[in-house]
Amino acid sequence: MLKRLLLYLNSKVAQTLPPDIVQKSMAANWKNQWSEWRPDQMYPDTHAQREAFLAKRFEPTLSRESCIVELGCANARYLLKIAPGIKKAYAFDISPTFLQTARDCARERGVTNVTFIERDLQQWINKPDGLPDIEKRLSGAINDDDWEITHVFVGALLMYFAKDEDALKMFAVCNRLLPKTGHLLLRETLVKDGLSRKIHSAAEGYMAIYRTYEEYRAMIEQAGFKIECDDAIGHEKDTCHHSFLCSKITDTAGH
Ligand SMILES: C[S@@+](CC[C@H](N)C(=O)[O-])C[C@H]1O[C@@H](n2cnc3c(N)ncnc32)[C@H](O)[C@@H]1O
Repeated sequence: MLKRLLLYLNSKVAQTLPPDIVQKSMAANWKNQWSEWRPDQMYPDTHAQREAFLAKRFEPTLSRESCIVELGCANARYLLKIAPGIKKAYAFDISPTFLQTARDCARERGVTNVTFIERDLQQWINKPDGLPDIEKRLSGAINDDDWEITHVFVGALLMYFAKDEDALKMFAVCNRLLPKTGHLLLRETLVKDGLSRKIHSAAEGYMAIYRTYEEYRAMIEQAGFKIECDDAIGHEKDTCHHSFLCSKITDTAGH
């Protein structure tokens, strides 16, 4: 009872915190707190359904020539699974621990075409020159000839961007990264239809912002993408895991 009351009070405080504080807390948690990311163990059913969406909708868009950028990759479990069938991937995350796990796992499996890069992506998009083409020079890890991105995968990252303007900037970066035939795969936790967005705040400091479907759809379209298909999987009482496969909007001349 006391725990529930504390959680309730905690979530009420979170709703009123300034976005900068919320953002700091979100980033610090991911950077320092967790060493393992295992959605297959945390919520096996919804995880399996999300993977089914990827297999049915996303994977058919891939080929041996595909080059994927994953933003917020954690242990990169999914990326490492599909990496043998594509040309190259660049995987970014804020957490050195996750990235180390991902590198170890890549080595064990003999996957050599994924480059892992540690970045706070919220800061990255806010640097005046923090654009992808600058990033490749900064990191020094990326060969110019290989920088032909065909797919961007953003999986449960924007729910840790407290400010909508940052989420929108991230979509704009995705648009700049992709050619006109490119695909964006977005997967976030949303509030269910009819509910208002909320900041989730757990006692151990975990925070996330659950936006509405309409809010994501508006940002996606504002950034120049259209939703090819999407899928919602009920997660908890008032949230769902939503996957969107998007392509770029091109004008009639094909630009
Ligand atoms: C919920 S996990 C999702 C992992 C994976 N993409 C997936 O879909 O299963 C969120 C990931 O985003 C990363 N992340 C959170 N905030 C970040 C930031 N500001 N910059 C870079 N990565 C961030 C976390 O470290 C974590 O790996």
